[in-house]
Amino acid sequence: MKPKTPSESLAILTDLVLPGETNPLDSLFGGELLARMDRACSIAARRHSRNIVVTASVNHVVFNKAVPVGSVVTVEAKVSRAFRTSMEIFVDVWTECLQTGKKVKVNEGIYTFVAVDEYGKPTQVPAIIPETNLEKERFEAALRRKQLSLVLSKRMDPKEATELKKLFE
Ligand SMILES: CC(C)(COP(=O)(O)OP(=O)(O)OC[C@H]1O[C@@H](n2cnc3c(N)ncnc32)[C@H](O)[C@@H]1OP(=O)(O)O)[C@@H](O)C(=O)NCCC(=O)NCCS
Repeated sequence: MKPKTPSESLAILTDLVLPGETNPLDSLFGGELLARMDRACSIAARRHSRNIVVTASVNHVVFNKAVPVGSVVTVEAKVSRAFRTSMEIFVDVWTECLQTGKKVKVNEGIYTFVAVDEYGKPTQVPAIIPETNLEKERFEAALRRKQLSLVLSKRMDPKEATELKKLFE
C-alpha cells in the first residue's frame, strides 16, 4: 500500500450553531459538537483508508471555550498516524468572526477509527508520512496515546506499554 500524507485526509466541515443545538446558556451543546467532530473524523479516516471505518475510541476532548448560538464553527480533521488497521485522527475546532475573519480555536479532540470490511473485520490501512512540524509532533506521540487508550480499555497489559512507561522514566 502506498503511504499517504495527513493533508490527503483533511476534512473540513463549516456550519452555524442554530438555537435547537444549544444548552440553557445558549451555547453549543457538547454532544452536538462531538457529533460534528465524529463526522469530520470519519470522513478523514475514509479518505485515508478508502474503506468503511468505525469509531473505536474517543481519546481526548477539551472544551476550551463556549460557542454561542449564531457562531460559525469549522471542524478540521486529519489523520495524524496510521497503524495496521487503526488510525488516529486529530480534530481542531474553530469559530470565525464573519465581520473580521478572525478565527479562534475553541476545542480539540483525538479519535481512533478502524478500517473494516463489509463484515466489520479490521483491514489494513496505508502508512502515513507527516510533513509539517505539527504533523510530525502529533505522529511521534500517537503510539503513546494508542497504548494509553488500549490500557484504559483493558486491551493491553500496562507492563507492555513501553512508550507510555518512557514518560515516567
Ligand atoms: C473497533 C473494532 C473494529 C475493533 O475490532 P477487534 O475485533 O477488537 O479488532 P482488533 O483487536 O484487531 O483491533 C483493531 C485495531 O483497533 C485498535 N483498537 C481497538 N480498540 C482500541 C481502543 N480502545 N483504542 C485504540 N485503538 C484500539 C487495535 O489496537 C487495532 O489496531 P491496529 O490494527 O492498528 O494495531 C470493534 O471493537 C468494533 O467494531 N467496535 C464497535 C465500533 C462501533 O460501533 N463504533 C461506533 C459507530 S461507528
